[in-house]
Parts: sequence; C-alpha cells; structure tokens
Amino acid sequence: MRSWRIFAVLFKIFLGISASTHWVVTENGRIQSQLDSAFYLRQPFDLISLLEQEKRLERIESLYAEMLKRNAVIESQWTGLESFSVLKDRVLKSDLDCRNIGLRLSEVDLYVNIFDDASEREGINVDELVPKESDVPEETPNSPDCSQFSSLNFSMHMFPHIQVLSQPWNFTKFIDVSVDLNSLISVTGRQLAAGLRQNNTSWFLYNLAALHWQVEGDLQKAVQCAKLAMHYVPVH
Ligand SMILES: *[C@@H]1O[C@H](CO)[C@@H](O)[C@H](O)[C@H]1NC(C)=O
Ligand SMILES: *[C@@H]1O[C@H](CO)[C@@H](O)[C@H](O)[C@H]1NC(C)=O
Ligand SMILES: *[C@@H]1O[C@H](CO)[C@@H](O)[C@H](O)[C@H]1NC(C)=O
Ligand SMILES: *[C@@H]1O[C@H](CO)[C@@H](O)[C@H](O)[C@H]1NC(C)=O
Repeated sequence: MRSWRIFAVLFKIFLGISASTHWVVTENGRIQSQLDSAFYLRQPFDLISLLEQEKRLERIESLYAEMLKRNAVIESQWTGLESFSVLKDRVLKSDLDCRNIGLRLSEVDLYVNIFDDASEREGINVDELVPKESDVPEETPNSPDCSQFSSLNFSMHMFPHIQVLSQPWNFTKFIDVSVDLNSLISVTGRQLAAGLRQNNTSWFLYNLAALHWQVEGDLQKAVQCAKLAMHYVPVH
C-alpha cells in the first residue's frame, strides 16, 4: 500500500515535470523528451491522431516544399518587373486620364475643397436676402463680422456631437483656397453685411459669410460664421 503511494507520487512528479509526448533515445542511451517536435501530440489520449501523425508530418513537409516553390516563382517575377518609378512614368505617359490632366501626379492637389454656396436650395432667393450693391447703405463695412449680427455666444461645448469642435483651435495658417471659391460667391462682403443686418437668422447668409472669410484668409472669423450657419439651418 505504502509503496503504491510512493509510486503514485513519483509518477505524478514525473508527469508533472514533463508533459512531452515525444521521447527519443540519445546516442549515449539517454531517454529524453523532444519538445520542439513534429510528433508532439496535442491530444495524447487520441489514438486515431496518434496513428495519423506520420501522415500529417508528410503533409506539413509537402506544404513547406510547395511554399518554397512559390516563393521562388514570386522572386523570379519580382526581378523581372520594372522598377516602380519606371512603371509609374509609363502609366502617366500612356494612360488617357493622366495625360488629359496635363499635370504631374505630384502637382495635382488631392485635397481640393469642394464648396457649395447652397443657392440652389429650395426657398433660397439671393436677390431677396441681400440688397443690390447700389442699395447697400453707405456706412456698411466691407466684410460681415458675424458676431455683430447675432448675440448668440458659442462655446465649443455647444457642439458636443462634433468632436473636432471640442479641440482647442488656433487658426493662424492660411489655407490656400482655390480661385473657384472667390468666383462662386456672387455677392460682395458689403452686400453680405447689409443682408445680415436685415436678416440675422439666415443660415444661408452666414454660410456665404463663412466662405467670404475663407477667401479673405481669416479662418477664425469664418468659423464664427459657420457656427451661426449651423445653428440657424433648419433641420429637416
Ligand atoms: C437679430 O436682430 C434683432 C434686431 O436687429 C435683434 O433684436 C435680435 O436680438 C437679433 N437676434 C440675435 C440672435 O442676435
Ligand atoms: C455673450 O458673451 C458676452 C461676453 O463674452 C457677454 O457679455 C454676454 O452676456 C453673452 N451673451 C449671452 C446671450 O450669453
Ligand atoms: C496661435 O499660434 C501662434 C503660433 O503658432 C501663436 O503665436 C498664437 O499666440 C496662438 N494663438 C492662440 C490664441 O493660442
Ligand atoms: C431670413 O432668411 C431665411 C433664409 O435663409 C428665411 O427663411 C427667413 O424667412 C428670413 N427671415 C426674414 C425675417 O426675412
């Protein structure tokens, strides 16, 4: 009984030390576990997988050989390929779209802004919203300072749903707006100022004013106007 227990303890220690299922006899007769082995059994209790292990090893080896073969093919194709810059030049010279643009890829402005003055919207009549240039009162400023027309104070916290607004802003950098924007705005800054004096809840005028300030390069003022436009625009 006692010796059985000792045997069980020894057995347990022995099993606890080595969970290996692959054992080899070394040249000098030592029996030791082979940990990094293709014959390592994940399920040592599974007789079928034990019987199949030789087949699986063959499969692994054939897969490995296949991968080596493919690798060689890819490498030979890679060396046959022209260098990237040569290829790019050729595409730029032969592709119709690239030739029509008439610019090199590095010269194309990929971040061009798309502006819309929204005058096509239903219910917007620019002629009603702003007076004619000749009817603009004498003392009207040349640019619409949006904060003068609406006493609404905006803090970043008013727009919790727009994450970028909650970040600290410092617009000192002039964003180079395209000439298109200037020609898009059909009314002058004076007309906008006069229009906002008449109607200080027009989202359309605030939006135009925001575009106006972007052309002027004053982004801080543009943002003021854009916020008011967002505030007054009807939500459909
Ligand atoms: C809009 O203008 C009217 C009259 O000029 C003024 O009473 C009103 O407070 C202004 N609205 C806002 C939101 O500032
Ligand atoms: C807006 O802010 C100014 C000072 O920043 C303050 O005097 C004025 O009372 C505020 N107006 C409103 C409507 O909160
Ligand atoms: C904005 O940044 C410029 C330089 O980066 C700095 O001179 C100016 O004081 C900053 N303005 C504000 C309001 O933080
Ligand atoms: C102000 O302009 C908006 C359009 O932007 C218009 O819906 C509204 O009726 C105008 N208000 C007045 C008093 O003319």
